Amino acid sequence: MSDFGIYIHWPFCKSKCPYCDFLSRVKKNVAQDTIIDSYIKDILFYAQKTNSHKVTSIFFGGGTPSLLSPHNVERVIDAVAKNWRLSTDVEISMEANPNTENGTLFSDLHLAGINRISLGIQSLNDDELKFLGRTHNASQAIHALETALKIFDNCSADLIYALPQQSMKEWNKTLQKILSYHLGHLSLYQLTIEENTVFAKKGILPLNEEAAADMYLSTTNTLQQNGFEHYEISNYAQPNRQCRHNLLYWQGDDYVGIGEGAHGRLRIENHFYATTHHLQLEELTATERAEELLLMGLRLRSGINKQKFYQNCGLNLDDIIDTKAAKDFVSDGLLINTPQNLKITSSGLLVTNKIIEELI
Ligand SMILES: C[S@@+](CC[C@H](N)C(=O)[O-])C[C@H]1O[C@@H](n2cnc3c(N)ncnc32)[C@H](O)[C@@H]1O
Ligand code: SF4
Repeated sequence: MSDFGIYIHWPFCKSKCPYCDFLSRVKKNVAQDTIIDSYIKDILFYAQKTNSHKVTSIFFGGGTPSLLSPHNVERVIDAVAKNWRLSTDVEISMEANPNTENGTLFSDLHLAGINRISLGIQSLNDDELKFLGRTHNASQAIHALETALKIFDNCSADLIYALPQQSMKEWNKTLQKILSYHLGHLSLYQLTIEENTVFAKKGILPLNEEAAADMYLSTTNTLQQNGFEHYEISNYAQPNRQCRHNLLYWQGDDYVGIGEGAHGRLRIENHFYATTHHLQLEELTATERAEELLLMGLRLRSGINKQKFYQNCGLNLDDIIDTKAAKDFVSDGLLINTPQNLKITSSGLLVTNKIIEELI
């Protein structure tokens, strides 16, 4: 049986960051207990459809799920544990904002069952944090990180780089500092200016493409020299520290999404379904499923296993990609296409989107 995960989305934040287009909003007096009651009902609904599955990961994402009380986190984990079998090494992650750590939060979350923390540090430079509209400064981020490291074996941090006008030197300072903490996992994102965000409305422009590409290559090089495997476009892990839950998405495994911004993917008797938080199952055609598997799978440095691709959509990968485009990318050294596997090479990484677009 493949890995199977539960994603819990918490859509509330203390403040809205000007670059963020995730479904998240600021709201006072959130009726947490009532919302969690409804999440537990949704858990029961999905459990009835997938009760033969074994849960290998639970992921609390956001928004800011570290605003949930540890008691409510425990209620959700207990509901999952009561309704499915859990694998003995189940990964239970939470995205946490440094501004929610209050001295006891992380140890209470650990007691509630969380065993992996992904800390939204974003930068360790106060001016950059201000520019990003974060409500924490660098020393608060470090304090949260040091606290998390004392409690959790499995810690990750998110950082954003390639900010407008950011120099390689400034970015390297943040990178070296974070590396000195020997985390098992890092998610390093280049700033994107998303439509309808405050940054887009203000006309903020991204760093120029050439400088951003140089930063990406140098970042990947530095991470590899520090023992990290570059396993997904923006994700780097020490051995056995890949994010098991996110791998579900990239490898096309099943998962259930609970909460307003959540969606899921389920295979039931060889039919493939997208699920929404309205508890609707919408059947996907084999081609729709194949296209999303291609889009997600080529983000992984290990690429797409063709046999697994067939099992996950019922179509042969070689039959659905543009073979002429694939041949051209292979002869340009951007793609590797074997009978077992399709993957983008290191030289192809910078043009991943173009490769995917032309293959579909
Ligand atoms: C779901 S978000 C939020 C997690 C958490 N609420 C926080 O802000 O720390 C996950 C990550 O996406 C990244 N991210 C969000 N918007 C981005 C953007 N426009 N460009 C680059 N990275 C972004 C941030 O690193 C963020 O930590
Ligand atoms: S980046 Fe995180 S904290 Fe900021 S608005 Fe988005 S989800 Fe909320």
